[in-house]
Amino acid sequence: MSNFRIYLIQSLAVILLIFAGCQKQATPDIHPPVYGVMGKQAMVSTAHPAATQVGVDILKSGGNAFDAAIAVQLALAVVYPRAGNIGGGGFLVYRQHDGNIGSLDFREMAPLQAHKDMYLDENQEVIENLSTLGHLAAGVPGTVDGMIKIHQKLGSMPFKSLVQPAIDLALGGVILTEKEASKFNEHQENFALVNEHRTHLQNEQPWKPGDTVFYPDLGQTLTLIRDQGRAGFYDGTTAQLIVEEMQRGGGLITLEDLQNYQAVWRQPIVGHYRSHKIITMGLPSSGGIAILQLLAGVEPHDIESWGFNQPKTIHLMTELERRVYADRATHLGDPDFYEVPIDMLLDHNYLTERYSSISYDRKTSSQDIKEGHVEIIESMETTHFSIVDALGNAASVTTTLNGSFGSKVVVKGAGFLLNNEMDDFSVKAGIPNMFGLVGAQANSIAPEKRMLSSMTPTIVEKNDTLYMVVGTPGGSTIITSVFQTILNVIDHGMTMQEAVNAKKFHHQWLPDEVYYEVNALDSATLSELSTMGHVMKPRSEIGRMDCIMVTDQGLEGAADSRGDNTAMGY
Ligand code: DON
Repeated sequence: MSNFRIYLIQSLAVILLIFAGCQKQATPDIHPPVYGVMGKQAMVSTAHPAATQVGVDILKSGGNAFDAAIAVQLALAVVYPRAGNIGGGGFLVYRQHDGNIGSLDFREMAPLQAHKDMYLDENQEVIENLSTLGHLAAGVPGTVDGMIKIHQKLGSMPFKSLVQPAIDLALGGVILTEKEASKFNEHQENFALVNEHRTHLQNEQPWKPGDTVFYPDLGQTLTLIRDQGRAGFYDGTTAQLIVEEMQRGGGLITLEDLQNYQAVWRQPIVGHYRSHKIITMGLPSSGGIAILQLLAGVEPHDIESWGFNQPKTIHLMTELERRVYADRATHLGDPDFYEVPIDMLLDHNYLTERYSSISYDRKTSSQDIKEGHVEIIESMETTHFSIVDALGNAASVTTTLNGSFGSKVVVKGAGFLLNNEMDDFSVKAGIPNMFGLVGAQANSIAPEKRMLSSMTPTIVEKNDTLYMVVGTPGGSTIITSVFQTILNVIDHGMTMQEAVNAKKFHHQWLPDEVYYEVNALDSATLSELSTMGHVMKPRSEIGRMDCIMVTDQGLEGAADSRGDNTAMGY
């Protein structure tokens, strides 16, 4: 090569370098903040636009956040049947405008005839699918009693007017979104497998976006609930239809189970994080205890300066999660059946000691990883919604059938799906459930016991006033998604929408793997974490949040674009 050409190439390289340097300076790595939907007075964020609209309509017609929550829950049972429900259960965490707080447990219960080994064969091996598919998978539903108890204590509008929008949707028809059509199609075989009758979820041709689905039986059941309240579900026609369905399919729920079911007001779990007050769900959800344990582990560290999703930050959070999920597996279960050492688990000295084994350059190994590969489902088949009304009342509700469309059993003549929540029990000590979670005696099956949950509806206060309402579906990833979302706002300075959008990661002790959302981490971060010993596994989605934040400009509603989630405010 001639000297002149070398000179030319060198000169070009210098010019390019200078240009690149200028470019870097000209476009500093700062983006304008991304906000969700803003509202001056009130905000509703749910998994489906039609349910969000129902909530806004109730608020605009004078209802409070709790009226809207009841109407949204029932609307979701129609428009979002894979997770919205009257045949499942859930939890409400609330904060009234005067600062009064509380929580309602409307979690399902094991039927009276349930027993510890009901999913095991004669060799004490777990019988595949028995706790997840079909009639035996269903716990006694809690949602309807939950809605009635919320109305009695906190509601302001006539109950009938809160049920009516769901009836109108069921009878008037629901237009399928693309995501919903594809979920319906995914489960056609299972609907046919467990239902003797043809359900309204089935179709000759694959469902298409824009198709309208009518739910006449569900409309009739909702009408009974509207007119008779609790008796419209736990007694009379609906109860009879549930019992007949159980007898047809070999399930356990009896009339006595239905009549015995009671949702329970419980003290929420309350703690603090960097001068914020965290109000969250206690047992039988593990979520509240776990979130407070995790936050306590982060508090001594300046993760803001470490940076969002940087190796050091992820390593610390993962190591905390490893220990917290191990505690969950060992110690947590329905407090009415098992003495849970809550005070110990949240005690400062206990946690300091528990976290003292964390090394800052090497992962700790989770012990006793089960043999064989654990298939963990990835779908987001619970649903969370957040509501704040014009007075400042806040409702944070997470509700579920457990898996997608629950047990897939539609009660003949009543038109609603039954949950497969029994799989949230530890069906055999140390054997993972569909989320890969293991458990032991604390969460073993017993009649009328509630299965341990990860659902974590949460409210955050700042300076003694309402600050955030947060929650998400995601099975075992619920706890870690809520954890990250809180840190994203408080430590990393994100808006509510940015915190929801942010890519997430997850560790749950067993299996000993870190799941991260595709594209969440660059190759340098992945390689640094691998060097520390972490086994990194990509996953399509983690979290599908519906959150609200109180800002100086009003309420910011942040719905997760991973789903059809929609926030509306005014
Ligand atoms: O209560 C629980 O923890 C589970 N039944 C939640 C299920 C769930 O989030 C499904 N979505 N992935």
